[in-house]
Order: sequence, then C-alpha cells, then structure tokens
Amino acid sequence: MSVREEFDDWATSGRDRGMEERHWQTAKHALARIPVEPGDTVLDLGCGSGYAGRALRDTKGAGRIYGLDGSPEMAHNAASYTDDGQVSYVVGDFGSLPFAADTIDHVWSMEAFYYAADPHETLAEIARVLRPGGTFYCAVNYYEENVHSHQWQEKISIEMTRWDREQYRDAFRAAGLHVAEQDTIPDREITIPAETEFPTENWETREEMVERYREFGTLLTVGVAP
Ligand SMILES: C[S@@+](CC[C@H](N)C(=O)[O-])C[C@H]1O[C@@H](n2cnc3c(N)ncnc32)[C@H](O)[C@@H]1O
Repeated sequence: MSVREEFDDWATSGRDRGMEERHWQTAKHALARIPVEPGDTVLDLGCGSGYAGRALRDTKGAGRIYGLDGSPEMAHNAASYTDDGQVSYVVGDFGSLPFAADTIDHVWSMEAFYYAADPHETLAEIARVLRPGGTFYCAVNYYEENVHSHQWQEKISIEMTRWDREQYRDAFRAAGLHVAEQDTIPDREITIPAETEFPTENWETREEMVERYREFGTLLTVGVAP
C-alpha cells in the first residue's frame, strides 16, 4: 500500500481527528517551544488534520502556514477545518518539497518523519528550504528506545525508519543542521487505569503502559539551519 492509499483510508474513516487528539497531548508542549515570530512561515510535514499549523497561527501569530501531506484526503479534511486564508494544505511527498530554497522559517513534523522513503533525502530537503537560522522540530513516538512502539511496523505496510536518539542527531548533522536540543516529552494526560484493570485490550501490565507514556513519551529532536 502506498502512503496515499493507507492514509486516505485513515482520513475518510475519521482517524485524522483521532490522531490529533492523541498527539496533541505531547505535541502542544513541543509546539510551544518553537521560536515562531509573528509573520513567520511554517511548514508542517505530514500534517494530517492540520491542527499544528492552526495552533501556531492562533498562539504565535505565524504569518503563513503550509501543511504538506501525501494523502489528498488528509489535505482535503485539513482544509475543511479552517477558513483562514493564510493556511494552505498541499499534497506532496517528503522526498521533494515544493518550496524554493531559503523560504521557510520553521519546519514541524509530528509522528510522520519516519514514513519518509529516504529520511536522509527528506532531511536534505528540509535543510534546503529552511532560511538560515530556521528550525526543524521533529517529534516521533516510533523510535528505538521506545520498545513499546516496535510492533507498530507489523500493522502498516509502509516501511518505517526506527532510529535511536543518536541516529537522529547524526542524521540531522549529516544534512548540515546543527542539533540544538533533544528531549523526550512525557504524556501526562492519558488515563492509565488502575492495576486491577490490567491486562487491557492494548496493555499486558500497568508498568508497561506507564513506561510508554509517562517515561518514554515523544522524542523531540531540534535542528537549526546554519
Ligand atoms: C501518523 S500521521 C500524523 C499526522 C499529524 N502530524 C498528527 O500529529 O496527527 C502521518 C501523516 O504523514 C503523512 N505522510 C506519511 N508519509 C509521507 C510522505 N512520504 N510524504 C508526505 N506525507 C506523508 C501521512 O499521509 C499522514 O497524514
């Protein structure tokens, strides 16, 4: 299945909003850290429902938001959630970003980067479109140290890249980005049932669920264009 087929399916069945709800719990903390100045141009890679760009317009006065997604249905849904003329959703692929060099102030991506067919090529593209001093905030829940995410690959036919923290830093640097920060953001909001309710549909033990959300959380790597 292609990115388009897989995620068009998700979008038409309403999973774009479900992802937004789940991802927001850690994404909002990462979004708050992006040094967006009023008027800045922001690109959201793999935007899904497009919530992140809209939040940056509302909270930081970002000037122009582009949400890029490989799924036309995702882009269509995202566009239907706003009538803000400064926010656009485009269909495209991470391997070839439809923007001129040095035109984007900040790139954001939540739970999407690891679907890139060639993540090194995607990083090179991000480095190309960023203005000097621009940032790439890359947030992922699927990464090597998060052992509870490893089985996700079995549930999807698109090949996913599972890097560890160091591999993210090395790849950013190889693409010419400085690594300004790397951190994990715990999800403190998800409800973790009482011990007596385990096993649940998704979790064998309470300890595993606590580890996944409260300890591992979302891996955030921040790159800065020289
Ligand atoms: C798991 S969803 C995350 C969506 C959103 N960022 C969020 O936090 O809810 C991943 C998104 O990335 C998009 N995507 C995956 N691979 C892509 C690629 N190579 N090029 C463009 N978009 C891609 C998918 O279509 C999907 O909408």
